Amino acid sequence: MKPLLKIGPLVIDPPTVMAPMAGITDLPFRLLAKAYDCGLVCSEMISANGLVYGSEKTRQLLISCPGEKPLSVQIFGADPAIMAEAAAMVQDSGADILDINFGCSVKKVLKSGAGSALMKTPEKAEAILRSVRKSVSIPLTIKIRTGWNPSGDQAICIAQIAQDCGVDAVAIHPRTATQGFSGKAFHSLIGALKERLRIPVIGNGDIQNARDAVYMMEQTGCDGVMIGRGTIGNPWIFEQIRRRLNAEPRFEADMELRFQTMLDYLGMSVKYFGESRACRMMRSRLSWFVKGLPGSSRFRQAISRISSRDQAMEFIDCYRKMLESMENGRQN
Ligand SMILES: Cc1cc2nc3c(=O)[nH]c(=O)nc-3n(C[C@H](O)[C@H](O)[C@H](O)COP(=O)(O)O)c2cc1C
Repeated sequence: MKPLLKIGPLVIDPPTVMAPMAGITDLPFRLLAKAYDCGLVCSEMISANGLVYGSEKTRQLLISCPGEKPLSVQIFGADPAIMAEAAAMVQDSGADILDINFGCSVKKVLKSGAGSALMKTPEKAEAILRSVRKSVSIPLTIKIRTGWNPSGDQAICIAQIAQDCGVDAVAIHPRTATQGFSGKAFHSLIGALKERLRIPVIGNGDIQNARDAVYMMEQTGCDGVMIGRGTIGNPWIFEQIRRRLNAEPRFEADMELRFQTMLDYLGMSVKYFGESRACRMMRSRLSWFVKGLPGSSRFRQAISRISSRDQAMEFIDCYRKMLESMENGRQN
């Protein structure tokens, strides 16, 4: 049976969530995921201090548009009062869900006592959650890791505190804070959390395709799945999961769709960031969509210098034609 993911009053259907990824999950990237039926998109992590102390660059991370709704915005920080103020700003910006980062293990974040540092200071975590819960009425979620040792005790402890503080759902990436992305995500902790909590549990970690997603739901009983790296250059994964859950025919992205998606991504990036910034971003990002295709390394080299939208479109067109002629050559 297809799981039902309900976060506060919001029904997330399909029960799929795009993971927050710093430097990646900006508005154009999120819109691509929405175009392929992602249930819920998330911003990248946003500094609560940056918001409250008026950083323009930080504030720009809140830019959204109706087409991506519902949107979850993630903040990180360690000071309960600042977190509450930042949370209110996020709510005022029109976000549908506020998420708090308890998983980031980047040195600078840990040093400030935020991210996964909070998983070993449950009193501080609780103070932040109570203060933020009081300041916003939109649904509140947290995203955690296993904690600092593999037992999972810290994850269970923080999740239970969160539930008691009125948090509406917990997403878990079951790797320890010191593990980074090495080894495998320990999926049975997702099931253990699900058994102990009344609020929804969203499972995350190592989902690369629709089969992995449905398998995680079946094995752990989680209410929804969150996908990060598996969406990079592959927004179709959401449509594939939706179809698998509904027992509909499979969906594969053909060459034409890949190239159209690159053009759409380029177009949206120019629209929201301006041509110059969009081109700088596209120099590395366009190659996400052609990974593994013949000649992709030459394409990657070519686009690493693009400086205008027209130039990018020309390279995309050239590469598409080259692949087509290779395909025709094979058929003749
Ligand atoms: C480039 C990158 C940036 C990330 N940034 C964030 C972030 O801003 N906030 C967060 O909670 N997790 C962040 N993560 C972790 C992901 O949300 C996710 O938990 C992790 O990648 C595991 O899921 P996956 O195996 O589906 O990629 C990031 C991961 C990557 C690869």
